[in-house]
Parts: sequence; C-alpha cells; structure tokens
Amino acid sequence: MSLPVADLIPFAARRRRVLEWMQSQGGGIALVATAPQVMRNRDGDYPYRHDSDFYYLTGFIEPEAWLVLIAGAQTRSVLFCRQRNEAQEIWEGRRVGPEAAAERFGLDDAYPVEQLSECLPPWMLDRPCLWLSQSARPAVQETARTALRAAHDQARAGARAPATLRDLDPVLAEMRLIKDGSEIAAMRRAARISAGAHARAMRAARPGMREYELEAELLYEFRRHGAQAPAYNSIVAAGANACILHYPAGDAELRDGDLVLIDAGCEFDSYAADITRTFPVNGRYSGPQRALYDLTVAAQQAAADATAPGRHWDEGHQAALRVLAQGMLDEKLLQGSLDGVLESGAYARFYMHRTGHWLGLDVHDVGDYRGPAPQPGAPRPWRLLEPGMTLTIEPGIYVPRADDVPPAFWDIGIRTEDDALITEEGCELITRGVPVDAREIEALMRE
Ligand code: GLY
Ligand code: MN
Ligand code: MN
Repeated sequence: MSLPVADLIPFAARRRRVLEWMQSQGGGIALVATAPQVMRNRDGDYPYRHDSDFYYLTGFIEPEAWLVLIAGAQTRSVLFCRQRNEAQEIWEGRRVGPEAAAERFGLDDAYPVEQLSECLPPWMLDRPCLWLSQSARPAVQETARTALRAAHDQARAGARAPATLRDLDPVLAEMRLIKDGSEIAAMRRAARISAGAHARAMRAARPGMREYELEAELLYEFRRHGAQAPAYNSIVAAGANACILHYPAGDAELRDGDLVLIDAGCEFDSYAADITRTFPVNGRYSGPQRALYDLTVAAQQAAADATAPGRHWDEGHQAALRVLAQGMLDEKLLQGSLDGVLESGAYARFYMHRTGHWLGLDVHDVGDYRGPAPQPGAPRPWRLLEPGMTLTIEPGIYVPRADDVPPAFWDIGIRTEDDALITEEGCELITRGVPVDAREIEALMRE
C-alpha cells in the first residue's frame, strides 16, 4: 500500500489539472467516490476493485473513500477514508487511516469517512458549482444531493449553496484518454505479462485438455508476475464456442483439429491489457483455418497501418473491414462486389463488432470516439488520434453453420487482438510479446 513519494507525482498533477479546469470555469467543489464492496454470497465479497476515476486522482485503493476537490481562491484536495480499527484490521487487512493518508498520498487533508456528510454542506457554501460524475452510482448521487440540500438549508445572506451541478465525466474522460508516462509504464507491464500468459497457454495446449485448464495457465502467469487480477473475465473458447463473442472459459474439451480462441489480459497496477489469439489445438492450422486466420492478421495489419496521429478513429475499422470483406468474397462466404458488401453491411454476418476500443484503467476505457460538431446540429466527426492514446485493434471472423456457407468454414471463430499506443510516427503494438504470425505460433507450440 505504501507508495514511494515519486509515484505520487502523477496523481497530484492530475488533481491539479482538474482543479485548474474547475477554476477556469468559475470554481466549485467536486466529489469523487470510490467503488463499493459488493457481496458475492453470504459473508463472501467479490474481489474488491476501486473506482477508476477515483484511483486516477488519488492512487488510493481502499474501499469507503471519497475525494473532495475545492477550487476557490485557493485549492484543496481532501480525502475521506476509513478510520484505523485494530479489531477489524485483524480480519480485513490494514488501513491507512486519515491520520497518515494526507501525507502518504500527497493530499491537503484527510478525515474519517463518517465525517463526510457533516463536512460537505459548509464546504459547499459560496461555491458556484458542484461537480459530480453523472454516471456515479445512485448512492453517490444521493450523498451529493443530500449535502446540497443541507447546504441550501445552511445558506444565509451572503453565503449561497452551489446553483449548478456539472458533470465531471467528460473532464476526466478527456484526461484519461491521453496516457502519461506512469500509465504507459503500467500498460506496458500489463501487456508484457499478458503476452507471456498467452504464450504459456499456447505451449500448454494439447488435444483432450479442457478450456479451464488453459484458463488456469493464464491466471497462473498473471499472478506469478505480480498482476493483481485479470482485467476482465478470460475467454477460452474451444471450437464453435469461439463464435460466442463473450463466451467465458468453460469445461469444453479442446479437440484435435479445432481452434481455440483466448481473449485474456491482466490488470497491472490498475491498468488493463486485452489480447486475443486463436491457435490450433494440435499445433497446426488446417487449410481453411489458416485461410481465415491469415485474413484476420492481414485485416489487423491494415488497421494498424491506419492507426497514427492525425488519422481518425474509424479509419482503422474501415481498413480492417475492407480486408475482411474482400477475404469473405474470395472464400465464397459472400457473393457480390466489395463495394456492394461494404455498402449493404453483408459482412456483419461474419464480423459483427468494431475493430477496437480505448484501453486503460478500464478495459473498455473512457473517452469520446467523436470530436465536437463543427456547428450546432451537424454530425460529430470521428476523433483524430493523438500520441499517448491507447486502443485495441481486434478484427475477427465468426462463421456459423448454415446451408449457404461453405462447410469447410463452419464453426470457425477467430479474433486477433493487440494493444496499440499511438506514438509520434504511428502506433506501437505493445502486446507483440506473443506472436500473431501463423508459422511463428506453430513454432512456439512445438517448443
Ligand atoms: N476482451 C473484451 C474485448 O476484447 O473487448
Ligand atoms: Mn478488446
Ligand atoms: Mn479482448
């Protein structure tokens, strides 16, 4: 839990940016809550995961914590957190406590969380605006509204409660979209560990194994390298299960001659990796498998080539679509012309998702995919890519069993997914510690 001082700098810098933004908007008070602990079943919790925005601004990972930012003539950053409690700490683990938290986390002050509702109303007085995440859970919104009501009750001549409520989400989303050095370092670490886990699963795979056995290889590799958790539920999908996009690792057998699709990534210091590889259970792609596999790799390369500063968000997707649609025509999955199937959307029968998403503290990270409208009412253009943005590039192809589909391709589901960091020149795929080239994968599986 204890962070060296140097590691606090990015959190303090982010708070400063938010506070400066608030000041530029006339000042106010902002409230950010962490995530609640959630019960799984009788006396058992789900593994705790803090709120991403709260973590982004504090680095604090205990539950029952709030950050209050005050932007007036001066600025203040105040944490509310659980008090030390010897008896409970014996059961639940150590707590920082408000006495140590302010210094430890570089804040102006820290108080017991029980004092939040009493402190908030007077702090709100004479602040023109309350900033709150509009996506905050109902209990957080309720706390804020109750405090606001109490501030109105306490208001006297010359001291007013905030008159406006403003959304903090777009401010934080915009900041989180461009990763700073410490974020990129954590993402590289998550990427490296996750790539190693995929390589481990490839080496371990044998006909007759079960999906959960490969999942165990992934989890082992994540944890033994210090990743705190999987960034999302691992998908390990044997054979036709790969055509179910969010199939969780189950107990299906890995059959000789089938492919297995693994979509898994770890979370390292709160940052996600998100990798998909699809490989042959027996170590060699069949002809039809290889044809579709190479198609997803070519589509991914086309998308990566279109992923660079100044290019817009959708260019990668369109580049991948063209390659995939042409491949579907070449393999007789579709009939017609390339422009025709792109126009009609006929490719969506075999490729029904987009080619990527922002990646960061959340696996589907925050950030607008479109820029502002050039004039009111006009369509909003796709966002231009900038250095420091991080996203996935993940084309796939999923072929159902159907009379009008060549049987050689039935039940094949393939996705190839890497994580890209936009650089000054283009993009860097930070998850290539595990190969994508079919021959390289086959060579790895022979090791
Ligand atoms: N692993 C979730 C996704 O690829 O979007
Ligand atoms: Mn993804
Ligand atoms: Mn994924």
